[in-house]
Amino acid sequence: MTAALTRPDDRSGTEVPAPKEPTTDGFAADAVTEATIGRQRSPEPDAQAILRRQAARESSARTYARSLPIVPVRARGMTVEGADGRRYLDCLSGAGTLALGHNHPVVLAAIRGVLDTGAPLHVLDLATPVKDRFVEELFATLPPELARDGRIQFCGPAGTDAVEAALKLVRTATGRRGVVAFTGAYHGMTAGALAVSGDTAIRDATGAGSGDTIRLPFPQGYRCPFGIGGVRGERAAAYQARSLLEDPGGGVPAPAGMIVEPVQGEGGVLPAPDEWLREMRRITTERGIALIADEVQTGLGRTGAMWGVDHAGVVPDVMVVSKAIGGSLPLAVVVYRAELDRWWPGAHAGTFRGNQLAMAAGAATIAHVREHRLDEHAGRLGARVSGALRDLMAAQPAIGEVRGRGLMIGVEIVEPDAGPDALGARPPAPRLAVAVRREALGRGLIIELGGRHNSVVRLLPPLTMTDVQADAVLERLSDAIEAARAAYGARSADGESA
Ligand SMILES: Cc1ncc(COP(=O)(O)O)c(C=O)c1O
Repeated sequence: MTAALTRPDDRSGTEVPAPKEPTTDGFAADAVTEATIGRQRSPEPDAQAILRRQAARESSARTYARSLPIVPVRARGMTVEGADGRRYLDCLSGAGTLALGHNHPVVLAAIRGVLDTGAPLHVLDLATPVKDRFVEELFATLPPELARDGRIQFCGPAGTDAVEAALKLVRTATGRRGVVAFTGAYHGMTAGALAVSGDTAIRDATGAGSGDTIRLPFPQGYRCPFGIGGVRGERAAAYQARSLLEDPGGGVPAPAGMIVEPVQGEGGVLPAPDEWLREMRRITTERGIALIADEVQTGLGRTGAMWGVDHAGVVPDVMVVSKAIGGSLPLAVVVYRAELDRWWPGAHAGTFRGNQLAMAAGAATIAHVREHRLDEHAGRLGARVSGALRDLMAAQPAIGEVRGRGLMIGVEIVEPDAGPDALGARPPAPRLAVAVRREALGRGLIIELGGRHNSVVRLLPPLTMTDVQADAVLERLSDAIEAARAAYGARSADGESA
């Protein structure tokens, strides 16, 4: 067993235990070898020194770097190798970006293909064969109604910029201002995207407002905002949306759009119930409100369908797409019905809208997902992993709920010894969740947390994950939860705040 991994920027001084040596076939199948990554290996950099320099120089606003104190030097598929020689199964996948995992051969070939032709790498929004192919590939995946006559706008290369574009688009097209958004939503970090997101901390700290946002409760069973739960809770959420928008005395001016995630990711992996989403489509159609589906995280097969809205058979007016469509490089677009195309040249601009490498990598990724039906694979494998986690939940009091769709899975960590509320939910346990993440890392598993209380373990493995790798993830996660719970229980028994 290798030495413990210290966390230089962790003021508590706690140590991350060293991961178990990789022994499963999952690792072997995916192992980072000299043959797969390149023959010449330079000497490994000093991981601890790099981490120390990062902690000293990088901003306090850094995020993943705090909870995952590793220095990746090589990666392939689902496996990341640190500068210290340890290997990890990556269930974060660049926050859901890496549909094909790290350095997939088709992605590398596409990037090399562009480099070898001498094509320009940066061309603003000019037409190129690379862009043309990307658009063809993307449109081949869209709901037919959007593919037939849709328009695409290339945005600055982040999901949040595409959200800004979508908001501008629908406001310009309708001449209205308000946008309906949902509790728990996450749409990005720029001003407009923050305004329609649920978290108030950054808005409060910076004085950024929520503008013309009309906020409605997002339905969820475990912590139902109506205290009802189940299908009746979902119906109540739909009923409230309809009555608010239809009520002439409700004080809400007719909105330009409604923005919704088909599965709330950062909000705690909460799938929008199909019937609720269909009702949102009916309400918006009846009232001339543009329905914006934020598919930044759910897109390209992640949820077991090509697009998250496909589960409900809903066709939005606008789709915001990023992450996976760049094949691991930055790319973001909005796709929308032609009738909305009423803005003017330069209404949404940005220097970096022409990243040819990202378009080539993205086109290759989209084609690969389609040809290999990785959306269906994600649906099947996701159901198996979720089922196994639900079985675990029956014996593991630290798990309150397992939910999600496809390979977008959430495991809510709760107070193991607390009693349930009227709906059967136990209080969230964010400190225990942090311990689970640390124990998982120590076992060679990269996971992140999300949710309103930061107590939901989020699994976003690549869509290429194999059954053997899934078993390794399950084993490590289950061990991590048990180890964290045991330590948590012992500390609580000592009277120490856990
Ligand atoms: C649903 C959703 N929308 C928008 C964004 C913002 O994307 P980006 O971080 O690329 O700006 C995210 C990021 O996680 C997201 O999950």
